Amino acid sequence: MNIVVLISGSGSNLQAIIDHCENGNIPGSIVGVISNRPEVKGLERAKQHGIPTVTLDHKGFSDREAFDQALAKRIDTFKPDLVILAGFMRILTPQFVEHYLGKMLNIHPSLLPKYPGLNTHKRALEAGDKEHGVTVHFVTPELDGGPTVIQAKVAVIEGDTEESLAQKVLEQEHIIYPKAAAWFCEGRLQLTGGKAFLDQKEINL
Ligand code: GRF
Repeated sequence: MNIVVLISGSGSNLQAIIDHCENGNIPGSIVGVISNRPEVKGLERAKQHGIPTVTLDHKGFSDREAFDQALAKRIDTFKPDLVILAGFMRILTPQFVEHYLGKMLNIHPSLLPKYPGLNTHKRALEAGDKEHGVTVHFVTPELDGGPTVIQAKVAVIEGDTEESLAQKVLEQEHIIYPKAAAWFCEGRLQLTGGKAFLDQKEINL
């Protein structure tokens, strides 16, 4: 399975997926990493593992459509079976999403459908939530709204801050994202009729 990972920053999720590909837990290999921001740490991580990298700066494009078209062109040169959004901080056009429907995953730091969009840790704290977490989902045109594949929960305790929550959630991200990627590469995970299935059973979380 050819995997292309899209990033915008640190790439710690990318690193987790690289590690699980290299140790054989994910039956696939990352054939390319693309960042919309230049000189981010995630690009360095990829280079250290001999993975081809591309920087495609969205600032060089007149509009969202033009950027997404150029991005899809670059992605497709890698002939991906799976596209993984790992901290890729862009809103995607419906055309782009349609093009990869059923083979593109995203990770979002909240227990979706709670808190789509930004500042999820802050919003969970302000709401007084006792639990918070992270979701891996198939990407559909609705922002952070595609069918859930897997979630992990963390407890929110007295004294937690945005930073402490982010750290706890990130640890869980590094566990569940490689797991979801492995399921996909093993042929166990599908998007059918707008629903996610694992081993032919609908995922209902
Ligand atoms: C993660 O919190 C992820 O959930 C969010 O962006 C962050 C990416 O972190 N979408 P990293 O670049 O993988 O370290």
